[in-house]
Amino acid sequence: MCGLVGAIARRDVIPFLVDGLRSLEYRGYDSAGVATLNDKGLYKQRAVGKVEALAQQLAATGMSGTMGIGHTRWATHGRPEENNAHPHVSTEMVAVVHNGIIENYEEMRRELQTLGYEFESQTDTEVIAHRIHHHLQSQHSLLAAVTETLKELEGAFAIAAISNEEPGRIVAARRGSPLVVGIGKEENFVASDVTALLSETRDFIFLEEGDVVDMTSEAVTVYNEYGRVAERPIQTSNVKKNAVEKGDYPHFMLKEIYEQSIALRQTLAPAIKDERLDEGYLGTDAEDILDRIERIHICACGTSYHAGVVGSYLLEKLGKIPCRVEHASEYRYRSPVVTDNTLFLVLSQSGETADTLAALRYAKQAGYAATLSICNVDSSSLVRESDLCFLTHAGPEIGVASTKAFTTQLMAMNIITLFMARRRGLDEAEEQRYLQVLKQASAAIEAALNLDGQIRDIAMSLADCSHSLFLGRGNMYPIAMEGALKLKEISYIHAEAYPGGELKHGPLALIDEDMPIVAVAPKDALQPKMKANLQEVQARGGKLLIFADQGSDFESANQSTVLKLPTVDDFIAPILYTVPLQLLAYHVAVIRGTNVDQPRNLAKSVTVE
Ligand code: F6R
Repeated sequence: MCGLVGAIARRDVIPFLVDGLRSLEYRGYDSAGVATLNDKGLYKQRAVGKVEALAQQLAATGMSGTMGIGHTRWATHGRPEENNAHPHVSTEMVAVVHNGIIENYEEMRRELQTLGYEFESQTDTEVIAHRIHHHLQSQHSLLAAVTETLKELEGAFAIAAISNEEPGRIVAARRGSPLVVGIGKEENFVASDVTALLSETRDFIFLEEGDVVDMTSEAVTVYNEYGRVAERPIQTSNVKKNAVEKGDYPHFMLKEIYEQSIALRQTLAPAIKDERLDEGYLGTDAEDILDRIERIHICACGTSYHAGVVGSYLLEKLGKIPCRVEHASEYRYRSPVVTDNTLFLVLSQSGETADTLAALRYAKQAGYAATLSICNVDSSSLVRESDLCFLTHAGPEIGVASTKAFTTQLMAMNIITLFMARRRGLDEAEEQRYLQVLKQASAAIEAALNLDGQIRDIAMSLADCSHSLFLGRGNMYPIAMEGALKLKEISYIHAEAYPGGELKHGPLALIDEDMPIVAVAPKDALQPKMKANLQEVQARGGKLLIFADQGSDFESANQSTVLKLPTVDDFIAPILYTVPLQLLAYHVAVIRGTNVDQPRNLAKSVTVE
């Protein structure tokens, strides 16, 4: 949700700021801008649209400077227009970039207007710039003015500010939105995410909630929420630069789909110790905590929510533990009843999703036995704030539509299910069998990827439709939900998912020859039921695309196309069947010419509510 970057050095940093914004574009991409302080004073350049538009303007103006801040925006307050783009400036003296939302901006705006400040945007950010300017009249430094301003702001945000009274300094702050400082040699950086800084450094300070950082080219000082100097460790990242580059792939999404087999292997391996799944991987107290757990309550958003739904099926069926799952955005507003010995489990790729984080914080006050996060970013707030954590090792996910993060979350849910199942009668031999099944997931995915060419051909038949229906039963229902979400996100085709058995309770009315149906129907206990559901569709002229397995007797015919996947154990079928649905969405989007990696109106890492 918006990306910010800042740099202070002894060289021109504008090219770096632009490259940094390109890396952060997945967080928002409706307008972009940079501001610098040079011998001509405070200078800003902003452009509507992608960072590329800004880059062209900057090249034309020849703007340069040894320090600066930049921003790529996902609009919250005010349309994507140049006057709403960041940086926002107060009286040609202070410039600010900002991620997140200032909840009390309206009253602050009114107050600032009575003080004589004029507003040029509809954003909540502009109040920050004016407030800092206002405080600079009575405070002795930018740091003090920012600190005073922070006391007045309500909401979740990260900011970076510069002032022409202190041209060698950037002050940045984190409250609710991630912020990382990059340490260089006689140069320092700040950004929403390490991906923006990997070209310059591997050494990072991950700021904590409430931190303020005062940065020059020589020094970085971090203050905690109480204004005291805080020791924050410098961590060396092992993320490789090519992990955040497309390489030979046309899109990040395709690269990330293909990376799933490795990502699954990388996620499973650290959870195994001495040939057994190791609960200690979740944290030192894991064994004791899991011993006490009698129920599980799962919360997440979007794709991560779908992984939670698959998990709830597994946990009840094999783990024999009562489990419920719900959207994080709903959870904390409905006064949930918390039962004894319940584990609160959150899933999130980024670990910064505002709704999920808020649900976790609510749960921590609500009397759960413990909290557990499944997350892909080890430095994230979610990981830091949970009692236990299962780190997925999908690697950086840049495409806005989540792919490898999802299948690795499914792997994590499988493993956690086995941790619960071993307490409820699953014997060692059976557990070992499941572990072997998990080890087969990577190879199964590779076999599914071999269907890529066929799926691309089939995608042609969906590319012109306006609506589609995805069907699944049992733990294939959440996979159908995920397939539908992928299609709508990146192709803008309306896609809905239903459990096959629900068709006759309403959605059957929608079926005609213009409504393609995508069915996920492996050979499992529910396949006969699913077959009956699909016959109901065929009888009404609906066109079917069925993903089944080698063992099932579905055959392609006039109205139906069947694609066969390898036969795998039910335990990993959700992982396998996700892949063709991702590829289908991808190819449909490519045919329709949409922006696959940065679909309209969306952004990765939704750090606002
Ligand atoms: C869909 C997608 C989103 C995210 C959701 C939660 O492809 O990416 O639905 O899954 O915004 O994000 P995380 O997992 O980072 O909490």
